[in-house]
Amino acid sequence: MRDGVPQTIFRKDYRAPDFSVEQIDLYFDIRAGYTTVRATLDMVRAVPGHAPLVLDGVELVLESVAIDGVSLAESDYSVTPETLVISKVPDRFKLETQVRIAPETNTSLEGLYRSQSSYSTQCEAEGFRKITYYPDRPDVLALFNVTIEADREACPVLLSNGNLIDSGVLDNRRHRAVWQDPWPKPSYLFALVAGDLACVEDTFVTRSGKPVALRVYVEEKDRDFCAHAIESLKRSMRWDEEVYGLEYDLELFNIVAVDDFNMGAMENKSLNIFNTSCVLASPDITTDAGYQRIESIVAHEYFHNFSGNRVTCRDWFQLSLKEGFTVFRDAEFTSDMHSRGVKRVEDVAFLRAHQFAEDAGPLAHPVRPDSFIEISNFYTTTVYEKGAEVVRMLHTLLGAEVFQRGATHYFETYDGQAVTCDDFVDAMEVASGRDLSQFRRWYSQPGTPLLTVTGDYDGDSSRYRLTVEQSNPAVGVASEVGPLHMPLALGLVVDGAPMTMPSGATTAVVELTEPRQTFVFDGVESEPVPALLRGFSAPVRVSPEPDIDQLRVLMAADDDPFVRWDAAQSYAAQLMEATVADDESESAFLDAYGQVMASDLDPAMKAQTLILPSEDYLADRAAQRGLVDVHSIHERRERLKQMIARSFAEEWSEWFARYAVTAAYEPSAEQIGHRALRHLAADYLCYTDAIDLEFAEHLYAHADNLTDRLAAARCLINHGSDLQRERMVERFYEDWKQQALVVNAWLSLQATRPHDDAVETVAQLRNHPAFDWRNPNKLRSLVGAMAGRNAIAFHRADGAGYTLLTDTVIAIQKANPQMAAGMLSPLTRFRRYAHGVDLMRGQLERVAAIDDLSRDVFEVVQRTLD
Ligand code: PHE
Ligand code: ZN
Repeated sequence: MRDGVPQTIFRKDYRAPDFSVEQIDLYFDIRAGYTTVRATLDMVRAVPGHAPLVLDGVELVLESVAIDGVSLAESDYSVTPETLVISKVPDRFKLETQVRIAPETNTSLEGLYRSQSSYSTQCEAEGFRKITYYPDRPDVLALFNVTIEADREACPVLLSNGNLIDSGVLDNRRHRAVWQDPWPKPSYLFALVAGDLACVEDTFVTRSGKPVALRVYVEEKDRDFCAHAIESLKRSMRWDEEVYGLEYDLELFNIVAVDDFNMGAMENKSLNIFNTSCVLASPDITTDAGYQRIESIVAHEYFHNFSGNRVTCRDWFQLSLKEGFTVFRDAEFTSDMHSRGVKRVEDVAFLRAHQFAEDAGPLAHPVRPDSFIEISNFYTTTVYEKGAEVVRMLHTLLGAEVFQRGATHYFETYDGQAVTCDDFVDAMEVASGRDLSQFRRWYSQPGTPLLTVTGDYDGDSSRYRLTVEQSNPAVGVASEVGPLHMPLALGLVVDGAPMTMPSGATTAVVELTEPRQTFVFDGVESEPVPALLRGFSAPVRVSPEPDIDQLRVLMAADDDPFVRWDAAQSYAAQLMEATVADDESESAFLDAYGQVMASDLDPAMKAQTLILPSEDYLADRAAQRGLVDVHSIHERRERLKQMIARSFAEEWSEWFARYAVTAAYEPSAEQIGHRALRHLAADYLCYTDAIDLEFAEHLYAHADNLTDRLAAARCLINHGSDLQRERMVERFYEDWKQQALVVNAWLSLQATRPHDDAVETVAQLRNHPAFDWRNPNKLRSLVGAMAGRNAIAFHRADGAGYTLLTDTVIAIQKANPQMAAGMLSPLTRFRRYAHGVDLMRGQLERVAAIDDLSRDVFEVVQRTLD
């Protein structure tokens, strides 16, 4: 174990900063191999007294420090591995420091680092302290002036936040740029980019008529891949004006794409930095899902300009204040741009497969955590996705109009401030005049609540009574921990049609506030089938599930797309979970499946409904009953797929032909829907023994886009003969080895092949020239994909999958602690599995035993094994 136990930080210990920074002047002198950073801070004591000045700083070589122009002697200050402490300072002073840093050898991808041919920064959450000494916390907001000097040829492009106010040529082939950001900001939103990048430019005119220059910076070879991001950005800017009344607040908005990035993208003020995988798009390098993902991430980062940047977080425990709200905002944007039903279904499927598992495991935490060792470990599906569900519930409870007023009140009241999740709810209370104190429990209770429902129909009085009991197994019974306040949107399907409620709509939104409540519906002409949780109105589980007969009714007759989809998922899941296979229920299922195939659902929704529940979702369901056996889940799912394939063999061939897109590739809803159906058909065709996968060879050969190529390759790699598989693997690489992002997809294709051998394949691919240990996208595409998306290989009986993941984590944990900790997550679920509980645990213990463990990995291992 590492020397000295890292410190735990508690939310309850929050204290306002002793000093504020009015302005910071930063000067960067970038040279090959090292960079010198001079910082001048105008500081003011914020809390009267004599507290020493404590600044954060990590891996900095301090060269000089001065106060009000007077250099300090070494006895005037002390430097620890993570701080600079000056015991005596006046109430108002100028602090000047000079440090040296080494971006070239910075592999953590936090602070200033080099990626390909450019230098770039990543400061959220606590990376700024790797650049200079500073009170690196989000509640210190300052005005930033930044001067960058570098070699003109190596770094023709010099960028920072705000406006370019000066630039010029210097001696020795060097040049300089001066940037000034008029908006005060916390250090985590600082950014700098210096490098040799191509620029693609466009303009957006705000609703009040102000032109904004939009610039996307990429490697020269990627110049043609920017159009989709720019269009997405313009749509986001327009949407935020129209829906939230928020107009962009500078004349320039930059996006920079970098290859080496731990996350998807970062919302630095006016200088967003993106993982190339989340910005570059063209039909040959981007899938349909990729196009949609890019649009939503561009929107997400743009929306942070207000939800995050103009109104920021007081401390990192409040992370969901900006992330939950911004995920909600980007989801609404996507719903407005495309299909609301499809977006909702995708988001719920994601939440159930990932967030529910997190909330049921050792790393469960509230949306607003109470403590952490390393904040980087809290960029989780709970903070993001469950946080967004919490905001969505407010939207449902208050209604769109009141919610929107609350949001406006929030942006106006807290503009320029660093605030808390409570402040957000306060704004909603002010706008609605409602008491939301009970609702606030969502921010402090971890765990997925369970609703237990009972219906009681009385034909004589035409009355239906629905009783709902809530509990939260992770924290205890509702009556003790305090029941949650949540909206339950529901309908009643009566005689094959949704009944009209007294409100005139078919949906009633009732509010749960008690451990147990009964709702009464009158005028119900015959025994209804309740359609619960329409639109997935709260992030909960419901028990018992409707029985098969009820599910069939909901699938066919409910008018909520989520409920219909959910019924189909549940139907398939129940069939797969049945202890004895029974012909009658199988043929009833196939009959229902055929009805969906023949229905007039729009293609994208139809594809969603016809895709069987994911193995992750099935595993989460299994975990509710006992231990998870991933092999049995896989086999049962495969068996059902074979059945479906055989029963509809003719239809699949027919669909494969019918949904061929003849027009040139476009990521339009229509084409995407058709491709989804065609690829579903292709997948099922692999389970019929009709045709030696010739259709897949043909699909690959004639494809004009990556989506088709990957679908074809997946058929051949997962279902082909050894020879077909090897030929496909080789051909794909030969065709696409020049495109890094496609090569990543190629790595994933092999890593996710549901076969034992995938472990050896992945192990070998680590030595392939296409792989690079330092690149997070490669790690995720290869080892991460095996561990997270290939249960068969990862949970191999001999534990080789666990060992491979662990070896990888150990190999990278010093170089990139954040990635290493994130990659451990599949192992942290070890208590769920029938196979290998000991083996998985053993691997975690192997990590725990390492000397010199990074703080990130230490925390994950410790919390998991505790
Ligand atoms: N704040 C980023 C986002 O959600 C995510 C991020 C966190 C990126 C930390 C880098 C580092 O938009
Ligand atoms: Zn975000």
